[in-house]
Amino acid sequence: MPAMTIEDISAAVAGILARLRERLPDVAGEPELQALVASFTGKKGELTLLLAQMKDLPADARPEAGRIMNEAKNAIAREAGEVLDRLKARRVEQAMAAAAVDVTLPGFGASPGRLHPLRETLDEIVHVFTCLGFDIAEGPEIETDWHNFEALGFPPDHPARQMQATFFVDSPDRLVLRTHTSPVQVRRMLAGPPPVKIIAPGVVYRHDDDPTHSPMFIQVEGLMVDDHTTMADLKGTLELFLGEMFGRDVPVRFRASFFPFTEPSGEVDIACPVCGTAGRAGCPVCKGSGWTEILGCGQVDPVVFESVGLDPERWQGFAFGLGVDRMTMFKHGIDSIQHFYRNDPRFIRQF
Ligand code: PHE
Repeated sequence: MPAMTIEDISAAVAGILARLRERLPDVAGEPELQALVASFTGKKGELTLLLAQMKDLPADARPEAGRIMNEAKNAIAREAGEVLDRLKARRVEQAMAAAAVDVTLPGFGASPGRLHPLRETLDEIVHVFTCLGFDIAEGPEIETDWHNFEALGFPPDHPARQMQATFFVDSPDRLVLRTHTSPVQVRRMLAGPPPVKIIAPGVVYRHDDDPTHSPMFIQVEGLMVDDHTTMADLKGTLELFLGEMFGRDVPVRFRASFFPFTEPSGEVDIACPVCGTAGRAGCPVCKGSGWTEILGCGQVDPVVFESVGLDPERWQGFAFGLGVDRMTMFKHGIDSIQHFYRNDPRFIRQF
């Protein structure tokens, strides 16, 4: 009498599947699922052990028992596979929920940038002069010695070059980082006949580095050339400009000075922005004089007209050059030019 019948096998398989189906819905993760499946179809799993008992069946019942057990094995694999798919989908959902953006929260708002104070002053200067009918001209920051010095009346050994000590590049035409925007005067007059009425804003370089001097700074050059462009035009233009920049009634004075490319030459002062024309002993801006220099100017020297092939008997004009950094320092009471080039946002945000 064989120990087992096909009915025993059927009942045992049904029991196995029932136990599996009872536990599957509660499986919380993949390792748990693997362990559960192994407890049925693993080496020592219930189904595996049952298979080992088939030898106790009558030979004619074995094929049917084999079919039942195969079916059970497939059912376990299929049902465990479905649970595995569900677990994976749930894991993806959870990861997405964790990373999700809550679109109902208020946004962060990009903090708005702002213009650098030098740019603001420059824009103001350009605005005033374009309103007066000046065009904007530009020239290269790397200049030839001829444009930067010689054409402007600085021969090679002229002592005035010293004041503008700069960075020379070893090259056949003695390239320099331009020391002022005045070479744009030369370029403009070479480019076409008068009338000329331009301003030329741009960066210039000098071998200087202290609280009031930066090796790189910004100038605006002005040049007006026509048949009769007199010193009176120069004074009127600059007084109007300074009034726009510093207030209509800012005291302005003209002093005689020297530049190799203007004759006569002048320097223009405005009342000290800290202590007014009265001056105060020890004032760091005006040193007690009540005045502070704001720009250089003059009537175009005949030597410049000759350099560019214009007849000095036929044309006359004026030129001026102002420092944008200096003007910005006066406007805002900034004590060191070096703040402008440090790129510290705490400085910029104050204006
Ligand atoms: N280029 C002169 C400077 O940098 C300024 C200047 C320009 C003076 C035009 C007179 C006329 O110092």
